[in-house]
Amino acid sequence: MSEIIVSGIRSTGNLHLGNYFGAIQNFLKLQEQHECYFFIADFHSLTTHPTPSDLYGNTRQVLIEYLACGLDPEKCTLYRQSDIHEIPELYLLLNMNAYLGELERCTTFKEKARKQPNNINAGLLTYPVLMAADIIIHKATKVPVGKDQEQHLEMTRNFAARFNRMYGVNYFPEPVAYNFGEQLIKIPGLDGSGKMGKSEGNAINLIDDPDTIRKKVMKAVTDTGPTEPNQPMTEPIANLFTLMKIMSSPETYQYFLDRYNDCSIRYGEMKKQLAEDIIVFTQPIREKILSLSSNQTYLKKVVQVGAEKARVSASKTLREVREIIGFKDF
Ligand code: TYM
Repeated sequence: MSEIIVSGIRSTGNLHLGNYFGAIQNFLKLQEQHECYFFIADFHSLTTHPTPSDLYGNTRQVLIEYLACGLDPEKCTLYRQSDIHEIPELYLLLNMNAYLGELERCTTFKEKARKQPNNINAGLLTYPVLMAADIIIHKATKVPVGKDQEQHLEMTRNFAARFNRMYGVNYFPEPVAYNFGEQLIKIPGLDGSGKMGKSEGNAINLIDDPDTIRKKVMKAVTDTGPTEPNQPMTEPIANLFTLMKIMSSPETYQYFLDRYNDCSIRYGEMKKQLAEDIIVFTQPIREKILSLSSNQTYLKKVVQVGAEKARVSASKTLREVREIIGFKDF
């Protein structure tokens, strides 16, 4: 049975391996068999106050990188969030039933508030409500995302269920976070701890050239090496192995794991191999990014067609929601 799939990526910079393996890899498979809506979350990027040229540049860049990864506008609906005015309207309606306590308890809100103490704006607080609007505007059932978005999906289900309860309807499905490999994924960064992220400075971007990738990987944090066989790994080393498991062949992974376990590993050698394997994966994508960058006519067409397609589904939902709430024609 065909499901309705919705997901997006914020337009705050270049896409990295975390975005690819947490989200895009799933988009590529899902677009082959389901009704998919993939978008550029440019409203969400406003929480950090980009300049107008950064907003436009980053939005354009995410579009290019989506296409370079293989998102196919013939197979999925590929659009820009801000082109669909029904989304902010649904966001406003959902905001009436979103409570301060639950919004303040959201982990990403607390984290952002800590990182940008001088800019704790209402958009940041209600970020999960806008995200819920993105998802339920198409009545999605599955949302391909990385592990870091799990709580947002739980909140989306709460908002959807609350709407249904409040109006005594069975209108919105309760969407679930989704990954093909069953478990949601967290790609680690190169700085020894935590996840790869745009703002953490620990990411390998899909557009990075080979030299940049080599430099970044060679600088990745390691430890002084195992001193006894089968020693548990420290976090930076476990992270390197996680990356290698995704990027390298099973034989290569096993080779370095064996070297780790018998204490003969040389991290420099492991990193060199990892860098080369990342380069093999990213370079075809980088080439497509570069060639699409100059094709403004095509990009414009993609955005126009995507907006038209997304509006069909969004406007139907909003019409029905308004009716349910009681905004009726005279
Ligand atoms: P964003 O832009 O931070 O990330 C986009 C997608 O990439 C995934 N991701 C990762 N997955 C695994 N490991 C990592 N290190 C890693 N870094 C990023 C994220 O989980 C996400 O799937 N709030 C969303 C954007 C959004 C959205 C939505 C997503 C807005 N509306 C509706 C789904 C549905 C965000 O900030 O993602």
